[in-house]
Formats: sequence, structure tokens, C-alpha cells
Amino acid sequence: MKKRALSILLALMLTLTACGTNSSAASMGTAESVKEIGSAAPAAEAGGFSDVPADADYAQAAAWCRENGVLNGVGGGRFDPEGTLTRTMLVVALYRAAGEPAVNGAPPFTDTQAGTWYANAVTWASEKGLVQGYGNGSFGTNNPVSVEQLEVIIGRCTGNGPEWTGDPAKAHAATRAQAAMALYTALRDGNTEETGRVLVAYFSATGATRPLAEYAADTLHADLFEIVPKEPYTQADLAYYTDCRADREQNDPAARPAIADTCKITDMAGYDVVFLGYPIWHGQAPKIIYTFLESYDFTGKTIVPFCTSHSSGIGSSDTNLHALAAGANWLSGRRFAAGTSRDSIEKWIDTLALPKQEARTMNQITLSFNGHTYTAALADNSSAEAFAELLKSGPLTVSAHDYGNFEKVGELGAELPRNDEPITTSAGDIILYQGNQITVYYAQNAWNFTRLGHINDPSGLREALGSGDVEITFQLADSGTPA
Ligand SMILES: Cc1cc2nc3c(=O)[nH]c(=O)nc-3n(C[C@H](O)[C@H](O)[C@H](O)COP(=O)(O)O)c2cc1C
Repeated sequence: MKKRALSILLALMLTLTACGTNSSAASMGTAESVKEIGSAAPAAEAGGFSDVPADADYAQAAAWCRENGVLNGVGGGRFDPEGTLTRTMLVVALYRAAGEPAVNGAPPFTDTQAGTWYANAVTWASEKGLVQGYGNGSFGTNNPVSVEQLEVIIGRCTGNGPEWTGDPAKAHAATRAQAAMALYTALRDGNTEETGRVLVAYFSATGATRPLAEYAADTLHADLFEIVPKEPYTQADLAYYTDCRADREQNDPAARPAIADTCKITDMAGYDVVFLGYPIWHGQAPKIIYTFLESYDFTGKTIVPFCTSHSSGIGSSDTNLHALAAGANWLSGRRFAAGTSRDSIEKWIDTLALPKQEARTMNQITLSFNGHTYTAALADNSSAEAFAELLKSGPLTVSAHDYGNFEKVGELGAELPRNDEPITTSAGDIILYQGNQITVYYAQNAWNFTRLGHINDPSGLREALGSGDVEITFQLADSGTPA
């Protein structure tokens, strides 16, 4: 997907340079923007810059950034490797690499303005938690990116960067050569655009929804799954407003038409994203979609509904499905007319904020309590994965109390899958108990339960946890640090 986004972006930028169309990139009018993207003048050689020696350690990175339209030269065929770039320029580079997804609203900082060349990029980066500004409401629009900001912001984008420490040795401005290398290293393998494993599941009674599902599956390199009814719908069954079978099912809140016995997904746990296609039947999803949603565990998955209809909009047909998979992250659904083109489906998919694969492998969390913060590595099991998914929606605070003089335990407020096994705990173990309680161990205990993770350095943990009740806030380690 990234390659496609990047090539579309590159093609677009070339077109813009040639015809000067009024687009966000073409309308960049500030000196900064001209400096940033004004590389229309011929470079010394294709893919090269006159001030980048072929044997420079950043030469390949600079060429890659240019080829992919991520970070261009400064005009006159120069890359200006020793120059600096602003925080805004870095965010624009990351936004371009992500394929410039659609955003809503304006950048949320006091020194950023709507309608500017960077507005969408800063809004996007802020929404994604890549930047948080200086904490006083300002973004530092024209401030040069420091070495540490470069590392942290790009790291957040790929999900595996360092945490912010405020290291004075990295407070100086990064050079454009350093920025090119950091972008190249982090993004060249498609880190920011690879979505998790995708399933496109659909029901289509008369064939209108099917091709759209096929386009989506093709575009996403996803698995395609047709929801086939056990009892096929005849023409008479579908003759709506005749009290036909479909009419009756739609009128019956309890109706759950059976899915064909052979029609089963054996590895639903392996999917991160499920596109769910259906025709509108009396303003709603057909009841077989309800059957489908009740047949699997969608906890932690992102579900993207889409539908076709004769003329109705998607209405409440998508939101009425939410309760059937309450643990899922439901994106807004979209209605298409029968015969919608592949191109339209691709464009729609490009606008979606689908989770990245990195999110699944993201394995560091923080625990904050009583003014202390510890980092922990999550275990390699489906329970820890589900816990990380839970934390993706934000920090989670658990009210914990002492138990057995070896742990603090509290209600998680959610049910996670269990992978219970006999464990003898040690200080720093984070354990899931009975699927819905989380414990932080400061001493030894032996029982059958599920390992969620372990605090990297549990020194002083017992004292830090203190005696009695404590509020422990769990958070994904790459969110919430200032930069
Ligand atoms: C029982 C039934 C009810 C329908 N209700 C609506 C409706 O409320 N609004 C609408 O625009 N189309 C309605 N339609 C038309 C279908 O939504 C439309 O033809 C759809 O594209 C069919 O998709 P499919 O061929 O994938 O089954 C209904 C069709 C059936 C069979």
C-alpha cells in the first residue's frame, strides 16, 4: 500500500510541478515551502543533487527522499545537507510518506494556521500522536528540528522509536542529511503504511456488493470471504415489500439466518482489520450480518463497514451493528452505488486510518503511579496483544490494592483472552488474573495465570508502589511523551 501511496504522491507532485494546479502542495506560498518543495530546477543528475557527493553516507537516503517526494531539495539542484529543517518540514515529510491521508479540522496549536501548506500535515501528526508541541499550546512551527525530536517523532511514526528524555547532547538542530537518513531508515521498507492483516467479508444476495468487496480485497492484498447463507435466498425470498423471507427477517429482531456450515473462518484471530460488506435491506444490514458478527470474537479488531443500496444511505445500518462486536474499533461505514468503480474503492481505502502492523508488535508500555514511571515489555501472547490493543485507545488507570503481601491487583474493566499457565512470579511481573484483573507483582507467588509482561527494571518497585491502595496508569510507551 505504501508503494502505491508513494507513487501516487510522486506522480501528483510531478503533475503539480508541470501544470501548477491549485492543490495544497502547489499552493504552498511561503518562503519555507518554496525552499522545501521547490526542486523543479534540474538537479545535477537524475535522482542526485549537486551538493551531495556520490560516496556521502547520506547520498542514498537523500536520493530516496527525493524519489519518493518525501523531502526534496532546496532548489537549484541542491539538497543543502548541512542545512536544517523546521519541525513543520519534518511533519510534512512524514505526512507525504503516509500518502497524505484526508484529515478533518485544523492544526490544534497556537502558532499553526488552517489553510497553510503544512496545516493538514500538522493536524494529521497531532491526531496520530506523533507531535504534541511544547506543552504551552505552541508547536514551534519554524523552529529547527533537534536531533532528539527527529529521533522521537520518526520513532513514534514507526512505533519503535526511543522515548523522549530531553537529552541536552541531542538538543542541537539536526541537519537535513541526518533527517534524510532517519526518514530513509525508518520508512523505506514501508513501515508507516503496512496495514495489519486484512479480511474482506461480505454478503451479496444479488451480486452488487460482491465486486466492491473484490476490489477492496485486491487493493489491500486481503483475504476475501463470502458470507454464504445456509438456505440460499431465492428471487421470491428477496421480493421486498411482499412479506417475503427477507422482509420477515428484517422485521424480526431475533432473526439470525444460518451461515452455510462449510463457510467458516478458521483463523479470525489472525486478522487485524475486517472490512464488512452488505446490501441495505430496509435501511439496515441483513440479519445474516448479525449472525456473522455473533460467530466470532472481534475484540481489538478494526471493522470497516461498507454497503450498496438502491438509493438509501448507510444510515444507522453500520452503527446498529456496533453492539454485536462491542470490543471492536468500528470505523464509519460508507455506502456505494452498485457498479462503483475500482478506482473509487481504492480512493476510499486511501482515506481510511487503518491500524499499522507495527501496532501489533509494539511491546513496550509504561506504568505510572505515586510519581514514579516504570517501563515494561509485553509478553508474546494473545493476551498481551489484546492488552496493547486496549491501550491504543488511551491510557488505562487501574485502582489496585494489596493482596497476599506480594502483589497489587485491580479490576481491568475489560475481559482479555487468557493464556493461563503455572507461573512463579518475581518482582516486576505483570499478570492477568481470571481474564479481568491485572496484578503487578513485587514479590513471589506461584499460581496458574497469564503473563502480560515484565517491568524492565523493577528496582525499588515495592517502595514505589507503597502500602495500601494505588492508582496505576498503564500506557503504550510510544505515546504521551513531549516533543
Ligand atoms: C429485502 C431487501 C430490502 C431492500 N431495502 C432497500 C432499502 O431500504 N433501500 C435501498 O436503497 N435499497 C434496498 N434494497 C436494494 C439493495 O440494497 C440493493 O439492490 C443492493 O445493492 C443489493 O446488493 P447485493 O446485490 O450485493 O445483494 C433492498 C433489497 C432487498 C432484497
